[in-house]
Amino acid sequence: MTTLSHTNRRSMLRLMAASATAPLILPRRLLGASAPSNKITMGFIGIGWQGGGNLKAFLQQDDCQVVAMCDVDETHLKEAVGKANERYGNQDCKGYKDFRELLARKDIDAVCISTPDHWHAIQAIAAAQAGKDIYCEKPLSHTLNEGIAMVRAAQKNKCIWQTGSWQRREGLFRWAVELVQNGYLGKVTRVEVGLPAGHNDFGKTGKELPDGPVPPGVDYDFWTGPAQMMPFNPCRFHKNWRWNYNTGGGQLMDWIGHHCDIAHWGLANPKYGCGPDDAVGPLTVSATAEYPPKDAVWNTATRYRVECVYPNKVDVVIAGGYDEIKSGAKWYGPNGWVSVTRGTIDASNRQWIREIQDREKKGDLDIQLFKSPGHQQEFLDCVRSRKRTLTPVEVAHRSQTPGHLGHIAALLGRTLKWDAAKEEIVGDPEASKLMGKQMRAPWKV
Ligand SMILES: NC(=O)c1ccc[n+]([C@@H]2O[C@H](COP(=O)([O-])OP(=O)(O)OC[C@H]3O[C@@H](n4cnc5c(N)ncnc54)[C@H](O)[C@@H]3O)[C@@H](O)[C@H]2O)c1
Repeated sequence: MTTLSHTNRRSMLRLMAASATAPLILPRRLLGASAPSNKITMGFIGIGWQGGGNLKAFLQQDDCQVVAMCDVDETHLKEAVGKANERYGNQDCKGYKDFRELLARKDIDAVCISTPDHWHAIQAIAAAQAGKDIYCEKPLSHTLNEGIAMVRAAQKNKCIWQTGSWQRREGLFRWAVELVQNGYLGKVTRVEVGLPAGHNDFGKTGKELPDGPVPPGVDYDFWTGPAQMMPFNPCRFHKNWRWNYNTGGGQLMDWIGHHCDIAHWGLANPKYGCGPDDAVGPLTVSATAEYPPKDAVWNTATRYRVECVYPNKVDVVIAGGYDEIKSGAKWYGPNGWVSVTRGTIDASNRQWIREIQDREKKGDLDIQLFKSPGHQQEFLDCVRSRKRTLTPVEVAHRSQTPGHLGHIAALLGRTLKWDAAKEEIVGDPEASKLMGKQMRAPWKV
């Protein structure tokens, strides 16, 4: 079998994108056994709740073909392989338990990673090193140090990267950000980011079930991976792993990649905000949080408030469980405010909302943001063109940084100084140590 190296596959895809007027159809054998001519070939790692949603979206795209799946739960794996094979009317999609076998396939261009947070860094870095482009779920990483390592690996291997922070594809969020970036508020002085509080029982397990046997077909050791081995408990398993710090980051980290991501996007024009959203970071972070007992099944913070000062004198508050901080992102400036959340945009002057849409249509905005053709489609377009996506790894990492820092500040009960350029906590070795976490052997980043 003749297959192209990753670099050659990438160059070939770019060439095909550039030759839109005279499409170049390549023989299937050149691009790998399971690649029908010029389609982008994809593998999926983690196909649970969100992975299933991502799979559905990618299966609808005609310019890619999902050729491999990986999950450590046989039931999820079988179902996902079946969906792909049904969609394509063949048996070409293969299933794997070990993501390293999937990544070793040279005929796969890109991967979609939707595993629990504690796996993202290991799998994404391995994917980058294997020359894959990456669609990875938010929050980018389980610890701050993992996020830093992921950015380095993606940059070193020139990966095209899309994060699952899909709110950037939506008109409402884009209009709100355009209002802020085009100076309707004047210089922004304050931003409120409202996230959920408590715990959601996504897995419908409650949190009271006793430890129990591992379900058939699940490799629990592989599921636990770099996290600490704990007895199997259904309340810490599928979906509800996010409510235990061993594997997730609670509501703060589950949501920061959505609304704080939008807040940073609004601040990206240095004239009115504080600088590009792929490099911005707070100067200081202080926080309070209410934590259940450490040994509770669900031990992540139920109520929290993170107060940051950003460059250019912007105060950013990120909170869950405070009535006055409403869900979404809200920017304030001398001329008023703009707020946005899923399904709702509002402003102190509502005429601005109509105006921004009209001006966008006429093309007369100073800062006109990219209109996404859809989060998955945009990723595939960028895989071909090698352009940056709307939510590249650097942006995702910066969007979640204040959440990681807020958790550390709340645990220690003191204000942290952050050097965003060096990505270091200044003068606090104890806090700096909490930027990382010991991984269970043999896993390491
Ligand atoms: N973008 C969004 O709107 C959105 C929404 C929900 C979840 N998410 C994110 O998606 C990710 C997955 O969350 P979920 O709710 O779907 O979790 P889930 O528990 O439903 O699914 C995770 C899947 O990963 C599998 N898995 C675990 N370890 C694995 C390994 N080593 N190799 C392969 N597969 C493995 C599990 O068996 C399971 O099938 C999380 O990072 C979460 O934050 C994003």
